[in-house]
Amino acid sequence: MVKGIVVVGAGGHAKVCIESLRAMGELVDFCVGDENSPDSCVGVPVLVGDDNLARLRSEGYEKAFIAIGSNRLRERLAKLATDQGYRLVNAINPHAIISPSVTFGNGVAVMAGAVINAEAAIESLANINTGATIDHDCRIGRAVHIAPQCGLAGNVVVGDQAFLGIGARVIPEIKIGANVTVGAGGVVIQDIDSGKTVVGIPVRPIKC
Ligand SMILES: CC(C)(COP(=O)(O)OP(=O)(O)OC[C@H]1O[C@@H](n2cnc3c(N)ncnc32)[C@H](O)[C@@H]1OP(=O)(O)O)[C@@H](O)C(=O)NCCC(=O)NCCS
Repeated sequence: MVKGIVVVGAGGHAKVCIESLRAMGELVDFCVGDENSPDSCVGVPVLVGDDNLARLRSEGYEKAFIAIGSNRLRERLAKLATDQGYRLVNAINPHAIISPSVTFGNGVAVMAGAVINAEAAIESLANINTGATIDHDCRIGRAVHIAPQCGLAGNVVVGDQAFLGIGARVIPEIKIGANVTVGAGGVVIQDIDSGKTVVGIPVRPIKC
């Protein structure tokens, strides 16, 4: 029997990723969740505990997708899965509009309505969420989360594990450091150093 994809995560983000994978024609056989997870996630049975990853691998499952919203946790679980020999697939919704010159790493999610323009590069484990637009030549780092309806102009660079909250906007040529958080609706008009949390129009740092 053909083995489908194992999705790690069973929450709301996993629902959207599973439906993207199905829209691509893929089969999702199991989710791996924790003790707080529901029994099923959009019809996919949920197994409780990360040890299920090793068991499924020994049964011949080899494709995984890490459907976890937290950038840090997504990175950690991706390492767990790849160390066990899983291959991380991409979940790219067919209703996203993607230039043929865009490059992707592994384990990337692109949700419906997203637009990614010419020669943008999306590194492994990045999430480009619903309706976000990533313009030409942007570089989106590893395990970044670009939330729904964000708008990045051309040549923006986003460092690893940064998080841009819903509806954030970024003008051209900006560099956003690793692990930066941009609050919902923030407008970025200057480079941002790694690790900062910034909010507002234009964004200013806040102490969190
Ligand atoms: C930026 C953010 C992460 C800060 O969260 P937090 O650390 O819990 O911060 P707080 O809620 O304690 O707010 C701290 C201050 O920043 C202000 N602030 C927080 N978020 C803000 C935002 N997006 N825009 C403007 N001001 C904001 C608060 O009003 C507060 O101001 P005060 O000190 O004058 O009262 C959060 O507010 C945010 O915007 N998250 C985005 C979530 C999102 O888009 N999720 C998408 C999931 S797909």
